[in-house]
Amino acid sequence: MFARRIAVVGTGYVGLTTGACLASLGHHVICADVDEDKIRRLRDGKVDILEPGLSELVVEGLAAGRLSFTVGAAVALEQHAEGVEVVFLCVPTPMGVGGVADLRAVEAVLDEIRDTLPSGCVIVNKSTVPVGTAVRTAELLGRSDVAVTSNPEFLREGAAVRDFLNPDRIVVGGEAQDAAERVAALYSRLGAPTVLTDSASAELVKYAANGFLAMKLSYVNAVAELCERLGADILDVTEGMSYDRRIGREFLNPGPGWGGSCLPKDTQALLQVADAADFEFRLMRASIDTNTRQRQRMVDKIRLAVTGNRNGSLSHSRVALLGLTFKAGTNDLRDSPALVIAALLRQAGAELVGYDPALPASTSHPDLEGIELAVDAYAALAQADAAVVLTEWPEFRTLDWPRIAGLMGTARVIDTRNLLDGDVLTRAGLTWTGVGRRQAV
Ligand code: UGA
Repeated sequence: MFARRIAVVGTGYVGLTTGACLASLGHHVICADVDEDKIRRLRDGKVDILEPGLSELVVEGLAAGRLSFTVGAAVALEQHAEGVEVVFLCVPTPMGVGGVADLRAVEAVLDEIRDTLPSGCVIVNKSTVPVGTAVRTAELLGRSDVAVTSNPEFLREGAAVRDFLNPDRIVVGGEAQDAAERVAALYSRLGAPTVLTDSASAELVKYAANGFLAMKLSYVNAVAELCERLGADILDVTEGMSYDRRIGREFLNPGPGWGGSCLPKDTQALLQVADAADFEFRLMRASIDTNTRQRQRMVDKIRLAVTGNRNGSLSHSRVALLGLTFKAGTNDLRDSPALVIAALLRQAGAELVGYDPALPASTSHPDLEGIELAVDAYAALAQADAAVVLTEWPEFRTLDWPRIAGLMGTARVIDTRNLLDGDVLTRAGLTWTGVGRRQAV
C-alpha cells in the first residue's frame, strides 16, 4: 500500500509545500498550525506565500479530500481516525545562542502530541537543524515506540513545488532503519535517488550542500572581480567552465552577493557546528567574507559610476534600485543583498527610490525604511542619477531603455546581475556597468 496517513505540523513555506505535495502524490495529509486565521484561509484554498503551483495543489488536495487543515497538532493526530503513521515537524528552529538550535517550538509540539502519538509511528524532522537534533528530539519525546528521523528539504523559494516533485535526491536519516525506509517510501513515486543513512549524516547533508552552493557563488564572484582587473569577461569564462561536467552550469552567475533565508543562516550555522566540533572551517569563513566584500564592492562600483571616485560621496544623488527581494520570483526580503547595499548607499549619503515587481508601492516593512517605493520602474527612474539592478526580474530586461534615457537625470546603469543587454543600453545613450564584464568599471 502506497498511501499513508500523514500529519504535517507547521504550515510555513516548507510545511505547506510538503503537505500539499504529499497529498498530490496520493497520501492523506492533515496540516496543523497554531495560527487560526491562516488555517481558516487555507481551508478556503487561500495561500499567502508567493510560490508557483502551490495554491493549485492546495485547492486540488482539498477537493480530492486528501488534504485538510486544522488548528493544533494533537487535533490533527486525532482526526486521522485509523491513526497517523508519519508526523512531519515543519516548525521554526531558529539558531539560538552558541549555534544551538532553539528547539522550543519542537518541544511545544512534542509536549502536545506525546500522549496522542500512536505506537509505531515515525516523526520526521524537515527543518534545517544542527547535527544531533534528531537524537535530541527522540530524548525529548521519551517514547521508545516512536522513531525519529531526519529528512532535509532542498526546496528553493519560488520553485518549491517543482523541486519537491522533481527532486535531485531524497535523503532520510534515522537510527531505526525500517523507520527511515518507511519515510523514503513516501516519495517512491518520484523515482529519485535515495540516500538512507544515520540522522547525523542526514542533518549534515543539508548544511554541507548549502555551504557548497555558497562557496561556489563566492568563488564565481571572486573570479568576476579578477575578470574586471584582467579585462576578461565572466560570461565567457563561466561558459568555458560550465561544459566540464564536474563543474556544471548551475549557480555560476555572479551577482550582488548571495542572500535569502537559507544560505547566510546555514553557512553561519555550519561555522558554529564546526567550531563546536573543534574544527576551524576556514574555507567557509572565506566564502562568507568574500560575500560581505561583494556587497561593498557593488557599492564602490556605484560610487565610481556616479562620482568618478570609489569613495565619492553620494550626497545629493538620487539612486533608483530595481529589485529589492533576495532573488526574482519571490517577495521575500530576508537577508536580501539589495537591502544591505541600500543601507550602505544611504550611509554614503544617497537618496533612494526603489521598485520591485513583488512589492506594491504601499508595502510597509521595517527593512524598507529610507527607500521610497515607486509604482513602476519608470517612476523610480525619473530624475535618478543612477539605476542599480539588484534583483534579476526578467521584466527589467524589456524596459523601454531609450525612454528611460530621457527620464533619468544622468544616465548610468549598474547591473549587479548582468541581466541587461549592454549593447541595447549603450545604443540608448546609457552608460552600462555589469559585474565581471569586459566593459565593466
Ligand atoms: C537555497 C538552496 O538553493 C536550496 O537547495 C535549499 O533547499 C534552500 O536554500 C534551503 O535551504 O531551504 P534559496 O535560498 O531559495 O535556496 O535560493 P537560491 O535560489 O539558492 O539562491 C540563493 C542566493 O544565491 C540568492 O541570493 C541568489 O540570488 C543567489 N544566486 C543564485 C546567485 O547570485 N547566482 C546564482 O547563479 C544563483
